[in-house]
Amino acid sequence: MLTSTFGDGDPPDNANALWQALQAESASRLEQTRFAVLAFGDSNYDQFCGFGRKLEARLTALGAKSLHARVDCEPDFEEVALGWLEAVVVSLKQENTQQANVRSPAQAAYAGVDTALESEATTGSSAPSYTRQHPLRTRLLINKRLNASGSSKEIRQFGFELGDSGFSYEAGDALGVWPTNCAELVGNILATLKLTATTMVAIKQGQEEKQVPLVQALSHYYDIARITPDILKFCASRSQHPQLQALLAAEQQAELQTWLWGKQLIDLVQAFPVVASASEWLGVLKPLQPRLYSISSSPKLFPHQVHLTVSVVRYGDAGQARGGVCSTFLADRATDVDVPIFVQKSAHFRVPSNPDTPMIMVGPGTGIAPFIGFLQERQASMAKGKNWLFFGEQHAATDFYYQDELQAFQAHGILTRLDTAFSRDQAEKIYVQQRMLEHGAELWQWLQQGAHFRVCGDASRMAKDVDQALKTIIEVHGGMSAAAAAEYVSNMSRDKRYVRDVY
Ligand SMILES: Cc1cc2nc3c(=O)[nH]c(=O)nc-3n(C[C@H](O)[C@H](O)[C@H](O)COP(=O)(O)OP(=O)(O)OC[C@H]3O[C@@H](n4cnc5c(N)ncnc54)[C@H](O)[C@@H]3O)c2cc1C
Ligand SMILES: NC(=O)c1ccc[n+]([C@@H]2O[C@H](COP(=O)([O-])OP(=O)(O)OC[C@H]3O[C@@H](n4cnc5c(N)ncnc54)[C@H](OP(=O)(O)O)[C@@H]3O)[C@@H](O)[C@H]2O)c1
Repeated sequence: MLTSTFGDGDPPDNANALWQALQAESASRLEQTRFAVLAFGDSNYDQFCGFGRKLEARLTALGAKSLHARVDCEPDFEEVALGWLEAVVVSLKQENTQQANVRSPAQAAYAGVDTALESEATTGSSAPSYTRQHPLRTRLLINKRLNASGSSKEIRQFGFELGDSGFSYEAGDALGVWPTNCAELVGNILATLKLTATTMVAIKQGQEEKQVPLVQALSHYYDIARITPDILKFCASRSQHPQLQALLAAEQQAELQTWLWGKQLIDLVQAFPVVASASEWLGVLKPLQPRLYSISSSPKLFPHQVHLTVSVVRYGDAGQARGGVCSTFLADRATDVDVPIFVQKSAHFRVPSNPDTPMIMVGPGTGIAPFIGFLQERQASMAKGKNWLFFGEQHAATDFYYQDELQAFQAHGILTRLDTAFSRDQAEKIYVQQRMLEHGAELWQWLQQGAHFRVCGDASRMAKDVDQALKTIIEVHGGMSAAAAAEYVSNMSRDKRYVRDVY
């Protein structure tokens, strides 16, 4: 079982039904089941691989037999994941040998995995042309601010040139972007840590190791912004500064979080100077990771470009301005350089395969990104299905981005309904889920007509509130109990009628 973790150790959407079934009091015993868990996560988060751990514990409690100990992967998962897969295949082979004449269908399938692995290793034929490790290096064509001056946010449309590179994507996929750190920040870090830019250091790229100047390593290969638990421990062990020691005391968690808010590595090392060599620092810094962005175009309309809609992360004051690594890279530093990009497929976050099926899209803020691509897709394929979009932002006057495009979709009959919720244009906040509830009767009619329901944007609050609103509408207008409405939504999810792309 391969799984990520959502929120506070929760399952990803496509594991919800399985998890409910495993947790039920009536869950069957699983003595005949063998399993192995590969968990994906990021140890910067408290609930690192939390759902993978829960899954393993529950399967074990139900009597299932572990084929191989759970392995937890960091964002750089390839090597570890491949090691796990090979070990699981070996375990299965051993079992197959022991039970040569009693092969279950599952064992036969795993034997197929082994053969597939071997053939992939020899031919390499199933590898896509551009990947996270072998991205397309291309130019930024579009860098356009979408909100008007006076807005408190900076939302930008970015567009990359694809030319005849053969780079392929589908509306609904995400684009991975490998950023470069800000040169000024790299310079400040080098000066504060009293390190020399030209010192040659070893960096690992996949299986290969190569020597590069420290300045290049800090610009392209290491995360020099985020303060990780390892960095805090390292600085505490080296600086002996009483304030830092006090902040790291177990009972000071709240104070530590308050102190860390809005701070980056440069703030930490300026506040608590540490003497360490370049290689000691590189031993504690995490590798720089690519960022994912929901693709905001359809290849049917833009076969030679790919578009994004990005909220640029800037905070702090003028004397101590701080920014997100990748969003500011795209906004400020990506012109006239080759930007490495790749596609991360979203298997189910798509327009409905039947062009006549209605589609409801809920995308406040940058959550609108994939829906611009979906509407382009429906237009280009001349799909007859109705489309309904809920969009929300702070102020209509400054933050109604893509207004012209949406009006054009309406004028051409592509966008059947558009409902907006500008949260800060009145005394009381209004959000997209209130618009859904106001039009609940019609939304229920669309659902009865088989509409697919897609949600994109903030995972922590919006997606949960929209999910609750959907259940309330089904309960009220479908005349169902809360439990029946929850089951209706669960079935929509199982049938891929309800799919979310939330972050
Ligand atoms: C599948 C997926 C799709 C996504 N799609 C989109 C999309 O379409 N558009 C989009 O804009 N983003 C999208 N994201 C988010 C995106 O990947 C990045 O996380 C985002 O752009 C921030 O990256 P960054 O490198 O600019 O910031 P980072 O360097 O990662 O910094 C972000 C960190 O800065 C800190 N921070 C942020 N704001 C403040 C503040 N006000 N005060 C103090 N500290 C702060 C927080 O610690 C935060 O975690 C998506 C994410 C996923 C997983
Ligand atoms: N990892 C990162 O650093 C990072 C960076 C950028 C974005 N993101 C994620 O992307 C999300 C989208 O950000 P965004 O700037 O595009 O938009 P956003 O913050 O989601 O705001 C868009 C609109 O949604 C409203 N809103 C707030 N809470 C809501 C709720 N519970 N239900 C429905 N609507 C709600 C906002 O209103 P008010 O603001 O007036 O309350 C605003 O009008 C962020 O929330 C965040 O999770 C993450």
